Amino acid sequence: MNLDWNMKRIGCCLLIGMLLMMGCHNKKKPNYQLFPDMYEPIGYEAYQESPAFRDSISALKPPEGTIHRGWNPYAYPNTNEGYQDAKLNLISPLDSIEVDFVKGQELYGIYCAVCHGNRGDGQGILMEREKFLGIPSYADRDITPGSTYHVIFHGINAMGSHAGQLDEEERWQVTAYVMELKNELEIAASSNTE
Ligand code: HEC
Repeated sequence: MNLDWNMKRIGCCLLIGMLLMMGCHNKKKPNYQLFPDMYEPIGYEAYQESPAFRDSISALKPPEGTIHRGWNPYAYPNTNEGYQDAKLNLISPLDSIEVDFVKGQELYGIYCAVCHGNRGDGQGILMEREKFLGIPSYADRDITPGSTYHVIFHGINAMGSHAGQLDEEERWQVTAYVMELKNELEIAASSNTE
């Protein structure tokens, strides 16, 4: 009986307490937050210094030598020697069945034809409109699949690198298509002179 009475008293006090707290709550001010970090996250900048790791920034640097997934390191440097080396020694990993001229043509049409022209004769739309100059015909250049891949990867003089637009397999597909264009240009040129 006594216990029951005590419980009622405690219950009553709690109820009054709650009512008081609710009554005092000022809606114009933020409520009491139990875990403020959850509502107000700290907005770290990606490259700001961070105390979480010693001598570090909040976006951790990848360990040295890291390469991103699916990326194959390319061994030939962007130098004259690298170019010559690739020209002589770099060969396509695609065999004759894997070469896909339809895909090569499509990618070439997207990334190369504006300058090099659909036939590879150097008469792309940018050349015709004189927006870009000095684009050679593939027939006039002593190119190999290795040198073509190298040029797609690193660019050459006024031509920029296309390594970001084309992945490794696509670069080789475009390379095969470029060699095919060169071949066709040379056949056309020799039949004209005969
Ligand atoms: C913005 C214009 C432009 C685009 C786009 C472009 N090229 Fe070029 N390309 C050039 C120019 C200019 C040169 C001549 C560079 C030089 O030797 O001075 C060149 C040269 C080349 C050569 C000859 C390099 C050599 O070894 O002599 C190849 C092969 C080539 N480009 C392939 C491509 C392929 C494949 C693409 C598409 C992935 C492409 N180019 C996209 C402008 C372009």
